[in-house]
Amino acid sequence: MENFIFQNTTKLIFGKNTVKTIGKELSKHGIKKVLMVYGGGSVFKNGVFDTISKSLIENNIKYTELSNIKANPVISKVYEGIELFRKENADAVLAVGGGSVIDTSKAIAAGLGYNGDVWDLYENKAAVKTEIPVFTVLTISATGSEMNGNSVITNEKKKWSVSSPQLFPKFSIVDPSVQFSLPLNQSVNGAVDTMSHVFELYFDRTEENEVMDEYSEGLIRTVMKNIQIVIKNPEDYNARANLALCATLALNNSNGMGRQGGDWATHNLEHSLSAFYDIAHGAGLAIMFPAWMKYVYRENIKKWVRFSEKIFGVNYGSEEEKAIKGIELLKEFYKKTGAPVSLREVGIPEEDLEKLSENALLRGPFGNMKKLDKDDVLKIYKIAY
Ligand code: NZQ
Ligand code: ZN
Repeated sequence: MENFIFQNTTKLIFGKNTVKTIGKELSKHGIKKVLMVYGGGSVFKNGVFDTISKSLIENNIKYTELSNIKANPVISKVYEGIELFRKENADAVLAVGGGSVIDTSKAIAAGLGYNGDVWDLYENKAAVKTEIPVFTVLTISATGSEMNGNSVITNEKKKWSVSSPQLFPKFSIVDPSVQFSLPLNQSVNGAVDTMSHVFELYFDRTEENEVMDEYSEGLIRTVMKNIQIVIKNPEDYNARANLALCATLALNNSNGMGRQGGDWATHNLEHSLSAFYDIAHGAGLAIMFPAWMKYVYRENIKKWVRFSEKIFGVNYGSEEEKAIKGIELLKEFYKKTGAPVSLREVGIPEEDLEKLSENALLRGPFGNMKKLDKDDVLKIYKIAY
């Protein structure tokens, strides 16, 4: 196990009927006016907007709105939010939505503390330094953005991230029942993203971290079981609650303790897909993870044998056969949930693989299990085709 420091500063408010506590919770922070950020309208259909607006009014908190944040959020909305925040004299950003809305909100907070183009922070030209607090009401469990310091934004064909302790939300409200209204594919995307975050941390080169391995396997099994329940019954509260908590735990750093920081190559490979074709992050990951695994499993075959045994109960064959079987079963599982498992299936032209590889490598070789260069990346996209 590696040495580590763990700190997570987000207060998590979890459970049924918690959204209506937003006004009271913000009051504890002395907030008088928020910039409320949300997406394309789901918050109106499922009643979340009304609950929040009522609670804010009851607690004398004013709000101004930044709407229409799209999935795979773009920098132009961040600029718009920064301007609106200043004009309206708000004192906090309130994100109401999923990763796209939360990441935009974090970007706005980061930009407000920076005397220059906020994109510089994503280019690593400057560090995040901001006093503006972000609060969230989560409506789709997937990214873990509700309890981490990451923000992922797209600028032209660059889908890049920034990470800072200053961008942890002060608190996040997670009521799993507001996710009853999610379309099936979005629930599946969320489950795939959650599993992918666990994989990124699980499949690195850390030796002998039994507790993190067992914890990770527990998260994976829980997601796999409960997404199948949700597919049959989208309004099963306990299944939603289990998925929601897994998603938060999968990327709040709790399962990265004593590890080497994870691999994250597959997220890079996926972000290029979203940057070019605007495909959903979870869908891209369902395609890319089995392909990446096929390419790198020999780097640490024992880990893949363990994965196959612990997740799928594979208990026959050579190490090689066991490792491969686990990867195949993962792909089959994704197929069963309705997630795409090939680039062809989502309509990406084969001749684009070259430019995708170039895009993924704009910031140089990446990955911890195996450092990937252009040749490796192209081969992985070809496996995924
Ligand atoms: O826009 P609306 O109408 O709200 O619809 C949204 C959106 O279309 C819909 N939705 C959300 N809650 C709903 C709902 N529909 C019905 N009922 C509800 N309760 O879901 C769609 C997807 O929303 P989005 O926020 O894009 O999903 P997600 O949470 O998966 O976020 C994806 C973004 O986060 C980034 C991804 O790359 C992508 O840009 N990530 C952020 C990370 C982080 N900050 O730590 C890490 C991740 O690895 C990831 O990269
Ligand atoms: Zn992800």
